[in-house]
Amino acid sequence: VSGVAVATPPGGQVIHVAVLGASGRMGRAILAEVFANPDMRLVGALEVPGSPALGVDAGLLVGQHTVGVAVTDNVAAVLPQAHVVIDFTSPLASLALAVQAAEAGCALMVGTTGFTPSQRAAVEAASARVPVIIAANTSVGVNLLLSVIRQISTVLDDSYDIEVVEAHHRNKKDAPSGTALALAGAAAKGRGVDLTTVAVYGREGIVGARPRGEIGIHTVRGGDVVGDHTVLFACEGERIEVTHKASSRQTFAKGAVRGARFLAGREPGLYTMADVLGLPKQ
Ligand SMILES: NC(=O)c1ccc[n+]([C@@H]2O[C@H](COP(=O)([O-])OP(=O)(O)OC[C@H]3O[C@@H](n4cnc5c(N)ncnc54)[C@H](O)[C@@H]3O)[C@@H](O)[C@H]2O)c1
Repeated sequence: VSGVAVATPPGGQVIHVAVLGASGRMGRAILAEVFANPDMRLVGALEVPGSPALGVDAGLLVGQHTVGVAVTDNVAAVLPQAHVVIDFTSPLASLALAVQAAEAGCALMVGTTGFTPSQRAAVEAASARVPVIIAANTSVGVNLLLSVIRQISTVLDDSYDIEVVEAHHRNKKDAPSGTALALAGAAAKGRGVDLTTVAVYGREGIVGARPRGEIGIHTVRGGDVVGDHTVLFACEGERIEVTHKASSRQTFAKGAVRGARFLAGREPGLYTMADVLGLPKQ
């Protein structure tokens, strides 16, 4: 499907950005990052109807001066003014946004996690009309880790047991994290297997010896952990552990804003953080 004029920031001009979920943990980090980038201008801060943040100036939400953009729930009024919308909300909110962004010709940078495969496909469908990235983790380090994990699992055979362990703060809604799934997926790809046929989510009881080729995925929840991921490759005689620890949400916000800059004015299509960061394709 084509025929929608994608808003294009003329070369060197300011990129108009809208943020969905503006008063959330990630939404605030994104706002701060947009304000810190002189080539970006916030044109809309969107929240869910009934949110206590509605009407509040977006600058005040992040402890800065007023910027003259009040938080609103009027997506239809905001999107036509935006070159790109950044979304860190919930799968249902992202689904609705994808339809509206495609209609408005507004590029879509999605950081929301927890999609079912069919929900993800529905969001991806917007890429027929506008440029889209859906990234479970927008940090540079994790995207580098994805290619490293794929490389390691290409070299090691299945005498190496692969386990992915993730930890996040107590308020995280989905488990395992989208990043843990992406890391397990990268390991499976490197090994040339389909993750759905080898994944095991947690273990309990008399589970017996570990079958060769399994990829275990485990979740820890507690306190204010921003996001830790470890991929373990263990065989008899040695093990490799590759760990990434995010210490601040700002790393995700920085990556998302780089993604938004990459998307603004680009041809419709589905892009990845690897494209944004110039890393090898996953
Ligand atoms: N991609 C990444 O790198 C990355 C990093 C951190 C978090 N996340 C994901 O981002 C999402 C948000 O995480 P969070 O910790 O900021 O959550 P949060 O609950 O703090 O924030 C979500 C915000 O979205 C708002 N929202 C919900 N539905 C909405 C709608 N229909 N319209 C407008 N706003 C709506 C909520 O009111 C809330 O303010 C989660 O899916 C999380 O897993 C992704």
